[in-house]
Order: sequence, then C-alpha cells, then structure tokens
Amino acid sequence: MKVTIIGAGNVGATCAEVIANRRIASEVVLVDIAEGYAEGKAMDIMQCASNSKFDTIVKGSSNDYSLTANSEVIVVTSGIPRKPGMTREELIGTNAAVVKSVMESALKYSPNAIFVMVTNPLDTMTLAALKITGLDRKRIIGMGGALDSARFKYFLSQKLNKPVYDIEGMVIGGHGDTTMIPLIRYATYKGMPVTELLSLEEQEEVCKSTMVGGATLTKLLGTSAWYAPGAAVANVVESILYDFKRMIPCSVLLDGEYGQKGLCIGVPCIIGKNGLEEIVEINLNDKETEKFLASVEAVHNTNKELTV
Ligand SMILES: NC(=O)c1ccc[n+]([C@@H]2O[C@H](COP(=O)([O-])OP(=O)(O)OC[C@H]3O[C@@H](n4cnc5c(N)ncnc54)[C@H](O)[C@@H]3O)[C@@H](O)[C@H]2O)c1
Repeated sequence: MKVTIIGAGNVGATCAEVIANRRIASEVVLVDIAEGYAEGKAMDIMQCASNSKFDTIVKGSSNDYSLTANSEVIVVTSGIPRKPGMTREELIGTNAAVVKSVMESALKYSPNAIFVMVTNPLDTMTLAALKITGLDRKRIIGMGGALDSARFKYFLSQKLNKPVYDIEGMVIGGHGDTTMIPLIRYATYKGMPVTELLSLEEQEEVCKSTMVGGATLTKLLGTSAWYAPGAAVANVVESILYDFKRMIPCSVLLDGEYGQKGLCIGVPCIIGKNGLEEIVEINLNDKETEKFLASVEAVHNTNKELTV
C-alpha cells in the first residue's frame, strides 16, 4: 500500500508520521518543491521507527515524481497556509496554480490513484482538481469535514466533560469559518442526543467554537494547525486503502444530491477503495437547509474566483 503526500510542510509531514505510526501504509513518499525538505522530513520520521516500532518506509523527494509511481492514494497539501487574519479564500490564486502543476505531475506516474485534497480553500481546490484532471468525481475527495467534525467532537467532549471517543457528530457544508454547519441535532453521547444534555446556550457555544476552530489555532500558532488536520487526512486515507467504507463528511462534487450541482461541498460520504463510494443524503430540517443553502451560495461565490 503506497501513499504519496505532496507538500512536506506541517500538514503533509504530520500526515506521513500518523500513517507510519499507525502502520496504515507500507510506503509513504513525501514530495516538496523546496530542495531537500521532503528528504529531511522523511529521514526524521524514519528515525522514529525504532522507538515508535513501525516498519512503514517513508521516502522524500525534491519534486521528482518518479518516486511516487503507482501510488494508490495521493494527498495534496502543497500550497500556502493561512496567516493570522487571512481567510481560506484569500489563498485561491496561488494555490490553484500549485494544485494544477502537482496534479498533472502526479497523474503521469499514478494514473489510477485516488486523490485526497487538503489545500485551501478546500472546496474550491477540490473543484479545481476535478476541472484540471477531468477525473471521475469518485477519485477526488476534499478533506475538510473530517477535521471540522473532529473539532466539533472535541468541543462537545469539553462541554459535556465526557471522553471524546464516546461522542459522535458531523460537520457538513463548506470548509470555511462561516460556511460549515455543525449538525448538533444529530450529535450524540453514547447514543443520547446531546441536545438533551446541553442547554441551547451551551449548544450554541460548541457550534461557534467549532466554526472558528481553525482561526482560533491560526491566531495562537501564527499559522494554520497541523496535528488534527494530519490525523484527519490519515483517517480518510485509511478508509480508502482498507475499503472500510467509513461515513466521513468530505467535500465532493454534487450531481443533484442535496438538490445541488456543479460544486464541491462537505456532505456525508462513504469512503472506500474507489474513493467516493456513495453520498449519504440525510434529512435536514428547515434551519439546517437554510444554512446549507447559504453555504452553497458562499462556495459558488468563491468558485467564481477560480481561473483554471
Ligand atoms: N483541508 C483542511 O482541513 C486543511 C487543514 C489545514 C491546512 N490546510 C491547508 O493545507 C495547505 C498546507 O498547509 P501547511 O500548514 O502544511 O503548509 P506548509 O507551508 O507547512 O506546507 C506547504 C508545503 O507545500 C510546499 N509546496 C508549495 N508549492 C509546491 C509545489 N508546487 N510542489 C510541491 N510542494 C509545494 C511548500 O514548500 C511547503 O513545504 C494549506 O493550503 C492550508 O491552508 C487545509
């Protein structure tokens, strides 16, 4: 099982480390445009192997895509991250050009790979990847909801004072501070609706913290976060490689689902060996539908900036 991660920066290298530590793949190739950087990150991760007890081989490449040949999954994290005060949308021009060049190079060596997009603005970059490559929508999955849902579950666990692994919850919609929709009505603690355990005010606080979860960390760290994003990507990669068919909210191209077409946005997806196996259409009430439609409009507006 071979995975390529393009961009050996914070998110890419963390993802490689999680994949190795959890022995999700037998080989990981990190690629970066910065000379020596991917090799350095790969060597550093490999020097964890004897202490952390993994046998995954992690290699690094300075923009030589021949090393990536026959990867089953390719993760795209290359691009620039957010700086404090920046929105994800402000990254669009630079990152679209990066996505174009790396995807064209990667596809030459791994024509059958499934792509997991991470570069922001996520929903627009996922659409850009589809337009650039012309690949079937099953093969291009945007990772945003997996991270936002992990943050949602974290804030729920804090508010409930209960372990995070006893909590279920999903965030759908655009991967943006104002466009994501934490589905509090569907969130549970051991099967019990959290709406029965938290006051309306507490529910509101959890949803707000989730929505600004990325921005809060960007402010604290001076750049966007990487541990939770890296782990969230690894989880998506694992579901593809092992055909787990986990339900994970991902940004995928809608073709009539949720009454929408022609945009990529976060919806519950079954993720397996073919990439997107199925889109799950859950019932949304009037308020949730209203939020989803506003999110759709916001993503469409960002997509207008796309020139590829
Ligand atoms: N989808 C999500 O949930 C999510 C979460 C966190 C970050 N992000 C996004 O992921 C991207 C990466 O974030 P990061 O914190 O790892 O940034 P980073 O700056 O640490 O890493 C990006 C890396 O990409 C490399 N790169 C740039 N152009 C390249 C090219 N043409 N080919 C190969 N490598 C190239 C850079 O040299 C750098 O090492 C950003 O766009 C960020 O906004 C998305």
